Amino acid sequence: MIPHTPSESPPSNLAALAEDHYFSANPPPKDLQKHMKLAKDFIEFHSKAGRRLVLVTSGGTTVPLEKQTVRFIDNFSAGTRGATSAEYFLEAGYAVLFLHRQFSLLPYSRHYSHATDCFLDFLREGPNGSVVARDEDAGKMLNVLRKYREARDKNMLLVLPFVSISDYLHELRGIAQLMKPLGPKGLLYLAAAVSDFFVPPERMSEHKIQSTDAVEAFSKKPSKPSASEEEETFDNFDSSPSVPRSKRLVVDLDPVPKFLKNLVEGWSPEGMIVSFKLETDPKILVHKAKYSLDRYQHHLVIGNLLSTRKWEVVFVSPGNPDKWIRIPQGGKLDDAKEAEKDEPLDPKSLPEQEPEAEIESLIIPAVAELHTKYIKTMEGKKLEA
Ligand code: PMT
Repeated sequence: MIPHTPSESPPSNLAALAEDHYFSANPPPKDLQKHMKLAKDFIEFHSKAGRRLVLVTSGGTTVPLEKQTVRFIDNFSAGTRGATSAEYFLEAGYAVLFLHRQFSLLPYSRHYSHATDCFLDFLREGPNGSVVARDEDAGKMLNVLRKYREARDKNMLLVLPFVSISDYLHELRGIAQLMKPLGPKGLLYLAAAVSDFFVPPERMSEHKIQSTDAVEAFSKKPSKPSASEEEETFDNFDSSPSVPRSKRLVVDLDPVPKFLKNLVEGWSPEGMIVSFKLETDPKILVHKAKYSLDRYQHHLVIGNLLSTRKWEVVFVSPGNPDKWIRIPQGGKLDDAKEAEKDEPLDPKSLPEQEPEAEIESLIIPAVAELHTKYIKTMEGKKLEA
């Protein structure tokens, strides 16, 4: 991969200032130290073995509205891309550090934890009160179980959770910094759907945001039924568009600093960095992916559209033509003509059911190939120096 010339990259000192400010203002998750210890041991183990290691981020981050959080903003990501990719990375010989949104899909168990594939549906009662897999499911389940056990027993998979945007960023920074000893053999595959806006701590309510004036009225100890009690009854039925502003919840969000620059320049200067770009408008996808690559100077952006993300993605990397990777609509992976089209598919042309093959089975070998080239280039540079 040929590095390209930066155009609109933010100055490094500004990125460092934004980092200091964000990480001192937003507290780390309570298990950060414990997670960093696990990550350090895992990374050292594989670094000593000279193995490639990938950090896969997966699922959506939450944006808490209160410090003692009852309400939060979330996004659609179920963690399918991340969990599926992790399995194909393991198959390709990578050790996988899987940083995921708590309770989102996990590698291997994803086959049995989906809303339509509840694990209980695959089981039946066996002899003497035992529980066994149903005959028709046993073959696939055994296959998945063997792969899972192998990954665990050989210490190839470490699973760490996050919940909020600030948990995610603290964990990402810590793990990326720990990955330095891997040099170019470290790969960061950022498939998580990271929130773009958040409530900064200084504007965040400590307690649950109240929907009525009842608490205020309580502290004033009214002697007769208060106006606010009457209001509360009224509120519950008031859905007219003319609700007064004082009764609406107006959420004022700041942009989350983009830490890709810090990741590329400081946290993981030698690792290969793959980010994702999600859009809903096909007309802007490639442009946004190129913009991101140009701005942050990393190694690969994988563009995907919300409506077609299980059918196709586009690879945008420096010095290479844009490369569309897609599952042919007939479901056959060797349908060359379909796969060659270099513009987004029309979502209306796609079958309603999910594709038979998983697009990650094509994405991961292509990423691994670019990673091989990257390692060679970096090692060549070291020899020259
Ligand atoms: O989980 P699924 O349902 O399968 O969905 C998968 C997916 C569509 C979420 C996934 O394939 C995907 O596209 N993830 C990235 C979503 C996105 O567009 O992120 P972004 O534009 O907010 O960020 C772009 C990149 O910058 C991301 O890789 C992110 O890790 C990184 N980023 C974002 C925000 C931030 N503050 N710092 C960052 O470094």
